[in-house]
Parts: sequence; structure tokens; C-alpha cells
Amino acid sequence: MSPRRGGRRRGGVTAGPTRERIDPVRYLSNDSSGTMGCAIAEAAAARGDDVTLIAGPVSLPTPKGVRRVDIESARELQAALREAFRECDALFMAAAVCDFRPRRRFRGKWRKKEAGQERASLELVSNPDILSSVTRRKGDRLVVGFAVETGDGLRRAMNKLEKKRMDYVVLNGPSALNASKTSVTILGKDGSQRRLTDRTKRAVAKVLVGLSAPHEAR
Ligand code: C5P
Repeated sequence: MSPRRGGRRRGGVTAGPTRERIDPVRYLSNDSSGTMGCAIAEAAAARGDDVTLIAGPVSLPTPKGVRRVDIESARELQAALREAFRECDALFMAAAVCDFRPRRRFRGKWRKKEAGQERASLELVSNPDILSSVTRRKGDRLVVGFAVETGDGLRRAMNKLEKKRMDYVVLNGPSALNASKTSVTILGKDGSQRRLTDRTKRAVAKVLVGLSAPHEAR
């Protein structure tokens, strides 16, 4: 890592969904609005961080003082993040990355006659796990990821925290997607748990940008 620019913490934030193209007019995506990621970018810039926001297709304005890189697919996000990660001291990975993408992208429109009349199937392949790929060289960066879970979310989020080498994972339910308020549990790799109930995403963002890397649990 190169030294901090003017002593400011350099923050990388990802936001919004990814879009995985089927053909020139269709895609797979999800309901993420990018609100959480943009709120984090805004809160980080407000505390004086030098912020790069990598945003999927979202219709939100770029927060003041934030550098923005627009991406569409998970693979584009990965390429942009690889570059930003090298230069950052803290990463907030709020993007809702599509787990799968179509194996092939039709050059022209996917037509009914090619697909069959009543049924059609689309072959999907896994997208890379972007967070895990960059945290292989985590160093002493602060890494905060998210987990949207149903059912036994706590256990799954803890597993992701460890597997993806995060310092903190922010656990929330699917109702958080595309909503202005949310309830979250912030789990730290030191075993800490902090619950924030029915807060605006801006309020949650303020807490997140104030986190510092915890010590490993013994
Ligand atoms: O989707 P999942 O619950 O595994 O996401 C957990 C974290 O990993 C999130 O911070 C998300 O942005 C990230 N992720 C990723 N690459 C994927 C899927 C998720 O970086 N392919």
C-alpha cells in the first residue's frame, strides 16, 4: 500500500446491484437500490476520508466529494475493485453481487423460436467471490462486508466473516433491500455483536465508518 494521501484514510465503497446480461435488452439482477453503499460513501467523505465509490446501476446521486466508478456486471466490479483495493485503507463491500451470470450472452435478442415455445432454460455459471479474491491480500486494511440472510442468519454471517476474511459483517434481512430504514447486527471477528434496530441507513452508515479493525478472537 502507498502512504495515505495527506494523512486521510482512503476508503473503497461498493454499492448497488450488479447486472448480468442475457442479451442486449435483458439481464439478471436484484432489488438493491445502492442506498446503503451511497450512505457509507457520504458518511466516510463527511469524516474526511478520500472515498472511491464503485457503483452498480443505481439512480442515486454521487455524494459530495466522492470519486465514482460506474460498473455493470460482477466481473466489471471485480476489475474496478482490484484497482481501488490496492490504494485503500478501508473497504465497505455493500454491493449486492449477483451470484450467477448467464453462461453465454446472446449477441442479438433472445428470440422465442430459438428458445422453444413453452419452456426455455438459461445456463448460469458462478460469478467470482469478489470480496474473497481481494482479501487474499488484506494486509491491515479494515474490511466490512454485508450479509443478507433468511433463517439462521447469525451462523451463516459468522461463517462468511471468517471465510471472506472480513473484520466485520453487517447482517440484515431481505427487507433491507430497497428500503430507507433497516435493522442490522454488526458482528466482529473479535466476537463482538452490536445490534442497531430500525435505523435509517444514514445512521447505520455513520456507525460503520467509525469502526476500526478489531483484534482476532482468542
Ligand atoms: O452474497 P453474500 O451473502 O455471500 O455476500 C457477502 C459479502 O460478499 C457481501 O459483502 C458481498 O458484497 C460480497 N460478495 C462478493 N462477491 C460475490 C458475492 C458476494 O464480494 N460473488
